[in-house]
Amino acid sequence: MKSDVGLLIGAGSIGKSHALAMRTYYQQVVIVDTNDQIKNWVETNMGTDSPFFTSLSEALGFIRNQAGSVSAVVSNLAPDHFDTLHTLMKAGINRIVCEKPITNCLDDANKLVELAKVYGARIVVNIPRRFTKLAESIIEFSKQRMGGPPTSMVVHGGAKCLVTNGSHWVDLAISLFGDPPEKVVSFAKPEFVNPRGKNLEMWGGVSTWCFSGSRTLTISFDNASSVESVANIYSRNGRTDCFVDGSADFFLRKPEELSIDSRTTRSGPVYRVHDRFEPITGNTILLALLAIETSESPDFTLGEALMSNEATLGALVSAREKQIVTFPITKDYECFTNRWNVT
Ligand SMILES: NC(=O)c1ccc[n+]([C@@H]2O[C@H](COP(=O)([O-])OP(=O)(O)OC[C@H]3O[C@@H](n4cnc5c(N)ncnc54)[C@H](O)[C@@H]3O)[C@@H](O)[C@H]2O)c1
Repeated sequence: MKSDVGLLIGAGSIGKSHALAMRTYYQQVVIVDTNDQIKNWVETNMGTDSPFFTSLSEALGFIRNQAGSVSAVVSNLAPDHFDTLHTLMKAGINRIVCEKPITNCLDDANKLVELAKVYGARIVVNIPRRFTKLAESIIEFSKQRMGGPPTSMVVHGGAKCLVTNGSHWVDLAISLFGDPPEKVVSFAKPEFVNPRGKNLEMWGGVSTWCFSGSRTLTISFDNASSVESVANIYSRNGRTDCFVDGSADFFLRKPEELSIDSRTTRSGPVYRVHDRFEPITGNTILLALLAIETSESPDFTLGEALMSNEATLGALVSAREKQIVTFPITKDYECFTNRWNVT
């Protein structure tokens, strides 16, 4: 049965939009943010029936024994995600949507899987392209019109951070290729230009993840540029360009050129076709909430989310340790317990 109450932790730029979407879905939305100035926003935009608290413990005191009919959305910053999720589970709240990246620490990520089992919690990570089914659409179009499934992916753009934005693309690559990467090598470094906090790192540089069958994902983010990023996904006879708004355009080689010589070494231009992928309008958080409310086993599992979390953080490990990192990352890596200052 669907929860009556939605509990939102962190009402910053994305959290405010989640709060407005949750208001359409739950009878009551309880909001927690450590910044007490958010109270004004809550009163103006959520009405008087949305209680506001500056600490999670106060909100849990308000909820008391109703925890079983509460679902939570966690949209504070990644360094707080583990403690927040653990506190929620301990309080008996076991339907949770958490913003990406679910953790900033590989050790914590592994512990979360265990804790979710212990508490019987259903946790979904908000990676919107998972819920809009972009990967499935690209695979289908690519197989039907591009001569086979995607074979490589390149993402490039300005100061987007390998974790903040890169994690979305790492997750898409895993969905497209159907497996986690085998290894990653990274020439990246952090700068303290993250608008969400002066202690938060913004990782720029180049990382390449290798998947089975010689398939690769390369991300190049340039902290010296403000230009928006784009993802180019290559297939045998076509390319898919993915944009930050969740949409995608498809490009194909001309059949008449391919009929003359179809070898990959005889490359030629591609042309944009009429078909394109349009994401749903509105906040995809509702799709994530639907997944935890209506299904015992959501399509996008915590295990899959942690796989892409590990693949993303692996790039930072590679850059820091100046070595190729092979997956899975075990406790032998010094960085296994490192709490990265990223979100
Ligand atoms: N899924 C997506 O497409 C998407 C998009 C944007 C942001 N995000 C993620 O969402 C998270 C939040 O991003 P944002 O842009 O809204 O950041 P933000 O800095 O605008 O907001 C964070 C909010 O959390 C509050 N906060 C900090 N610590 C807290 C705590 N311990 N308990 C309760 N509240 C606390 C802050 O006061 C602030 O209002 C980040 O992890 C970010 O990567 C995801």
